[in-house]
Amino acid sequence: TDFEKKILCIGAGYVGGPTMAMIALKCPQYKVHVVDINPDRIDAWNSQELPIYEPGLEEVVFEARGRNLFFSTDIQEGIEEADIIFVSVNTPTKTFGEGAGMAADLQYWEKTARQILECSKSPKIIVEKSTVPVRTAQAMERILGTDGSGKFQVLSNPEFLAEGTAIEDLKCPDRVLIGSRLTEEGLKARDELVSIYANWVPKENIVTSDTWSSELSKLVANAFLAQRISSINAISALCEKTGADVSRVAYAVGKDGRIGDKFLKSSVGFGGSCFKKDILNLVYLCRSYGLQEVADYWEQVVKINEYQKERFVLNMLHTMFDTLAGKRICLLGFAFKADTGDTRETPGIYIAQRLAEEHCRVVVSDPQALDNAKIDLKDLGDAVSYVEDPYEAAADCDALAVLTEWNLYKELDYTKIYNSMTKPAFVFDGRNILDHQALHDIGFNVFPIGKPALTHYRMNGRTR
Ligand code: NAD
Ligand code: UDX
Repeated sequence: TDFEKKILCIGAGYVGGPTMAMIALKCPQYKVHVVDINPDRIDAWNSQELPIYEPGLEEVVFEARGRNLFFSTDIQEGIEEADIIFVSVNTPTKTFGEGAGMAADLQYWEKTARQILECSKSPKIIVEKSTVPVRTAQAMERILGTDGSGKFQVLSNPEFLAEGTAIEDLKCPDRVLIGSRLTEEGLKARDELVSIYANWVPKENIVTSDTWSSELSKLVANAFLAQRISSINAISALCEKTGADVSRVAYAVGKDGRIGDKFLKSSVGFGGSCFKKDILNLVYLCRSYGLQEVADYWEQVVKINEYQKERFVLNMLHTMFDTLAGKRICLLGFAFKADTGDTRETPGIYIAQRLAEEHCRVVVSDPQALDNAKIDLKDLGDAVSYVEDPYEAAADCDALAVLTEWNLYKELDYTKIYNSMTKPAFVFDGRNILDHQALHDIGFNVFPIGKPALTHYRMNGRTR
């Protein structure tokens, strides 16, 4: 009762949980209440075993929980008492009807808006935290029966955290973006939200704008980031044909201050719940406004990513004598990136499916993501096995395929692994994290991404 402000967050996922934990940590004067319709998730947030793995998250949650951070399923009570409501429910790609496979599915979002309307007895600020199509705030206002002057103010406040570094990103964000109506009421609501972040974020990193620009900036930021990866991955294919080395190219290119050296790591492809979904959302938006050329331009970022994953599989097939039937391949890593257990849209899903199609036995290893992998790959049945220990996983395999850049894979005893494998033994380094020369010296045939292969035999028709 003696809290200065009451904050509610609807949606206790990868965004809602860590974001609210950080607000609670930095602002003990506010009550922060996080609600979800999924009781198992809420139970996990209230337990010693949090529902998501994220470095540093436990410390933050354990410090604030019970003090001013609360998790529950009591959505109605939460709405009633809140001054400010963040909405961070999922907005996945639509799987049905108009825009299937492209547009954002806004059903969870809309349900939340209706529930806010139903349970609210006092004026509130509603904050869009979820990533949404441009002008969603307007749809929300219509559902809430306001034109921007009534009981509700709708703000856009997209989240830019990356998984695996969420706590760092939340502590020191490059920027916090807040979009509002530019009316007197809109600016007042905006200042209210600015004052929350100002508890720990320097003022110059709090960027304000109109609502539509804010909503669009989130989609564009993800499109630009993913575009860099697809750009370097496209070049990796050319490197493999020409004998150039993609890491050297990326280094030389990234040294140009105008280009910069970040997000230029060639890989087996980008994954994660955001990039593909948000780009397709952008593409759909462009098409729906009749901007065919713009839509095609951005769609190509996703297409190159699909190509990169397929290229990786075909490379395994062709180098292993054009047959994978009956072979065993160990996937080192299944999470879509290191330091997370999240496997949403991970390249590992596609690769495991394609290998199973080739009648290959797949052994999946990962320090955090095996529970999720079992769910993702359940349709593949006993073509796939799951082994956490990488030495055990690699034993009797014909090849290793590194799919996630976990540090632990850099430090394994590869001589021991080589000795336990079927010969000739192959390594496909989908992250370029291993010491390729050392592996070759041990006896492996080594296939990095976008670099010359190191083999113990001459490869027909390949200039490497
Ligand atoms: P998530 O699936 O992990 O979490 C969403 C939660 O919302 C789920 O626990 C679900 O049960 C809950 N929910 C759905 N409908 C509800 C309702 N009506 N009432 C209460 N709870 C409800 O998703 P996420 O990864 O946290 O993403 C949330 C949003 O944030 C998405 O729009 C996403 O695009 C965006 N985003 C995600 C990331 C990321 O790294 N994961 C980063 C930036 C932005
Ligand atoms: C992304 C955005 O970075 C973040 O700002 C946004 O809020 C959510 O989406 P996330 O998907 O969690 O974050 O992780 P990110 O670090 O962006 O990596 C996405 C994928 O790209 C991963 O599969 C990663 O391995 C891959 N990647 C990243 C590369 O292949 N090469 C790179 O150089 C960088």
